[in-house]
Amino acid sequence: MAFDEELSNEIRKRADIVKIVGSYLPLTKKGRNFVAKCPFHDDNNPSFTVSPEKQMAHCFVCGASGNSITFVQKYLKISYVEAMKKVAEIIGFSDPRLEANTYKKPIDNKKATILKCLKDLSLYYEYALNTEQGKEGLDYFEKRHLDSDLRGKYQLGYAFDDAQASINFLLGRGHSLKTIEDTGISQLVNGNYIDKNHGRVIFPIKDENGDVIGFSARRMNNDSSLAKYVNSPETYVFHKSSVLYNLDIAKDKARLAGHIYICEGFMDVFALGRIGVDNAVATMGTALTNEHVQMLRKLNVEIRLCLDGDLPGQTASMKAAKFLEENGLKVLIVDAGSHSKDPDEILNAEGEEALRTYINTLLSRVDFALAYYQRSNPLKTNEQKKKLIKEFLPILLSIRSPLDLDNYLRKLSKVTGYDVESIRDLLKRSRAVDVSHNDELMRNFRPERKAVRKLEIAERELLYQMINHPEAVAFYEEKIGLFYDETYRHLANFIVDYSSRHNNYDSIDIVSSLENSGLDNKDELVKEFSSLYLEKTHPQECNEELLSNLLDSINNEKEKIYEQDTLAMSLEGKSELEQARIVAEYNRRKNKK
Ligand code: UTP
Ligand code: MN
Repeated sequence: MAFDEELSNEIRKRADIVKIVGSYLPLTKKGRNFVAKCPFHDDNNPSFTVSPEKQMAHCFVCGASGNSITFVQKYLKISYVEAMKKVAEIIGFSDPRLEANTYKKPIDNKKATILKCLKDLSLYYEYALNTEQGKEGLDYFEKRHLDSDLRGKYQLGYAFDDAQASINFLLGRGHSLKTIEDTGISQLVNGNYIDKNHGRVIFPIKDENGDVIGFSARRMNNDSSLAKYVNSPETYVFHKSSVLYNLDIAKDKARLAGHIYICEGFMDVFALGRIGVDNAVATMGTALTNEHVQMLRKLNVEIRLCLDGDLPGQTASMKAAKFLEENGLKVLIVDAGSHSKDPDEILNAEGEEALRTYINTLLSRVDFALAYYQRSNPLKTNEQKKKLIKEFLPILLSIRSPLDLDNYLRKLSKVTGYDVESIRDLLKRSRAVDVSHNDELMRNFRPERKAVRKLEIAERELLYQMINHPEAVAFYEEKIGLFYDETYRHLANFIVDYSSRHNNYDSIDIVSSLENSGLDNKDELVKEFSSLYLEKTHPQECNEELLSNLLDSINNEKEKIYEQDTLAMSLEGKSELEQARIVAEYNRRKNKK
């Protein structure tokens, strides 16, 4: 295509530079502009500024600048005309003048030769599926609900049991042995070249242009002594780390939908395809790589992680979401909830609606992480709770919206019982120092006693009285019921139980009985009991007035905590505007009291 000034102007006017640059670099809004680390020099600060008003990008350090087309030209190191095409593709602009093909990519002969061979082979595998010997492959696909439409769509095939059949076919088609070797499918066994995929069903793997670059071949039985999938090795054209299976089909659909699903395996991509969701890709069972990020960034859409619901899948989601967000991509994660199955299994076991609901139940990274940690790590001891907070620090630090931050702090507070302000305070300190100081910060983070400070003091006082005065034990049973603080609750229950079995006892008796009990947390209880017992700051006499004052304090403080919890619950799932309204209302009523 020759340079066409009119066309160039038209594309430039239609393309918003923020969208174009944003599909290559993570942009952050700063005032009226957007900024990013400059891709044209080794930048430590975001010096590369994109102005939506001027439709220009400029680096204030190295001076690189450009409009939407020249940016792409420089960034991808391609010609102006190629860049025009790229920009047109990103904004979904088509024009016959763009198709006129005077411009040709430099031809990579080696690549073209291998691709041609792979294409012939893929067609051969497709053909084989419909032969008599291929019947077992066909049966396998039918069993997995891959009907003829789907088989055609994904060009599924079968490799004959006769391991030399495909090699001979390719030789017959004029491909050299060297080329066949270059495709990665062959193996030299006893002086003969054989097809490593033989006797398996075939999933061709294509690049984003739809060219077959390799294969994945699945065994049809459950014989676990054989690999489930045999994949193409690294070749001149096949690089596992940059495979996004189904991207050729998914990319346009994703741009239309504004999001793309990333699954773990191609069976999951098929499952989504079966319910009409074609904007889905799969990695080849590997973690996401920088290459994947580059490819995804070009789509300029939200990423939805749809990995397996089992623990490894969920752990992978945690990592992938972090990685994607760090690279400036927007991420949501499918909430597996109690599902431990993959999308393919959900569709087959529970049907279309179940899968549709499943893939549309999405969590932000923080919400996902919260649910994940609650599920995978017990949150009983302070040690466990602090570990959770520590895990969340970097996530919290990365949240830009104050309202979102408030929301997450409240959720964290709810699962740990630590008050919002202590966590916010920790965050503030952590912002001020290098991450290497996080351990030290955490050592000094002791919110467990502050969380419910007044309540804690009152409960502690009453517990002290219970140790020394039977009438306080009776009062507790009758008026309090249960302490809020878990440790105190266990201790109080122990004392109640002990006193019901012994008429005359001493505090020392209780401790030794506690030590000999089989309670899981007896060490913690003994420690707490001893410190309480030995405390010298309890001169108050146990009388009715004291007990009734303690009861009032306890009830008041509990009421406040209850309100906080109710607030947190009422905010869940609400829009930002609605949340702001509820918080304002809450504060108004609190101040009135
Ligand atoms: P899974 O084991 O989750 O496969 O691996 P799956 O998609 O559920 O497949 P079925 O339902 O058992 O047939 C996910 C992906 O990991 C890669 C494949 O790319 C697979 O799609 N994998 C898995 C391999 O490469 N080799 C293996 O042996 C297993
Ligand atoms: Mn599966």
